[in-house]
Amino acid sequence: MSGVRVRGLIKIGIGVLGMAVSISGCSSSSKASPAPPPPQQLWGDLKPIVSVKELMRDMIDPASDYVFDAIGTVDTKEGTVEIQPRTQADWDRLRTGATMLAEGIYLLKVPRPFAPAGDENNSTGPDPEELSPAQIKAKLERDPVLWNAKIEALRNVGLEVLDIVKRKDVKELWDAAENLDEACESCHIAYWYPGDAALLKRLDRQLLELNGVRADRHRTPSPAPK
Ligand code: HEC
Repeated sequence: MSGVRVRGLIKIGIGVLGMAVSISGCSSSSKASPAPPPPQQLWGDLKPIVSVKELMRDMIDPASDYVFDAIGTVDTKEGTVEIQPRTQADWDRLRTGATMLAEGIYLLKVPRPFAPAGDENNSTGPDPEELSPAQIKAKLERDPVLWNAKIEALRNVGLEVLDIVKRKDVKELWDAAENLDEACESCHIAYWYPGDAALLKRLDRQLLELNGVRADRHRTPSPAPK
């Protein structure tokens, strides 16, 4: 478990404690049960323009590049170059991406088509790679809680990056980029290409048998093969 996640949990813990204290404070001053919170009001209508697929291509994916491109290593002829935020402009760009992700992912809560009309994804043929938009929709409708959990998971990474920008913490940015990758993939595996879950396991096993190494899909430094 990363330091970031541990800190997140502690923060939640403190939040819950604060709530408990204020609730018990209330009930000691009056015996009446507290009024339920008013339902959340929006300031206006939310009307989608594009499908989930287009929202991904034109907003979520470009936003994520602000984070993915901010940290890493590149091999050049002169050797390995570390990429990391150095200037205020670099940190500002990262904050832009984190904000776009944290706020933008909530647009997935607005019911919208999964793909443009007539686009069936790679869902036809004998061994389809992707679910059709109708299959994705049916999956979501069977379990909207899971869909919202995937949305919140991505939003949490956005919040994590915003926090990292405040502290200019390069080390934790590595973790955050990894968490972001996981948040994207875990939704895609659940809703877009679930067949890959089995395929990836199979590939992992083959790699392990071949080389004695684990497939590295999350850009963490893997131990040298024995
Ligand atoms: C809550 C679920 C969810 C999360 C989180 C999510 N995606 Fe997606 N994404 C989808 C679904 C569903 C599709 C497939 C839509 C379709 O093709 O019908 C998709 C499709 C895509 C596509 C394909 C677009 C195209 O033109 O074919 C890209 C690229 C993409 N996502 C990138 C990302 C990135 C990057 C992240 C993380 C920063 C991310 N997604 C997070 C649900 C999600």
